[in-house]
Amino acid sequence: MTEQKATNVTWHAHAVSKEERCKLKGHKGAVLWFTGLSACGKSTVANAVDHKLHQRGKHSFVLDGDNIRMGLNKNLGFSAEDRAENIRRIGEVAKLFASSGSIALTAFISPYRADRDKVREIMPAGEFVEIYVDASLETCEKRDPKGLYKKARAGEIKNFTGISDPYEAPEKPELVLDSNTKSIEQLADEVIAYLEKHGLLAS
Ligand code: ADX
Repeated sequence: MTEQKATNVTWHAHAVSKEERCKLKGHKGAVLWFTGLSACGKSTVANAVDHKLHQRGKHSFVLDGDNIRMGLNKNLGFSAEDRAENIRRIGEVAKLFASSGSIALTAFISPYRADRDKVREIMPAGEFVEIYVDASLETCEKRDPKGLYKKARAGEIKNFTGISDPYEAPEKPELVLDSNTKSIEQLADEVIAYLEKHGLLAS
């Protein structure tokens, strides 16, 4: 549990209700939490889904690992503690997006089950959609778009997820995407189908 340091703070209720925001936007607010190894396709699929949502007039936004680590979380590294804090902050930000009626798509390795579960716990029921982008280590290592697996194997990057640091796959994700065999287009369509089926794209 992160310590509450500030005292004399009170929670303010919003004058505009969740239902009113939802009605204006024409869909529900939600967090689509993509998790998986580096190079499994999280960001690419998230961006493809974002594009499809945008084309349908939905309000969505991608929060992406490398970008957030250059701004909001630039003071965090890759120790288990720093990864936990990384995910905690992203979770809070994504929750704010969802409360504003938007669909936040997050693309972070988020290797620890406990960290992801904590985000699920702070979200209203049904608004947290955990999406496991399943690509084997072999597949990711073959892709190696940033050459990071090569560096990790050579010992040039310490604590690299999948090589010298753990990845805990979700046990009960809302959705599993098979990124070993399917195209980005197919995977993005699977996400859209899930959102439609669960009424998230209607107000
Ligand atoms: S997380 O574990 O805290 O969720 P996050 O998704 O923000 O990680 O960042 C992962 C990205 O940081 C990778 O895609 C890669 O580009 C880069 N990176 C640098 N060092 C590491 C490392 N030791 N382990 C994993 N990714 C790393």
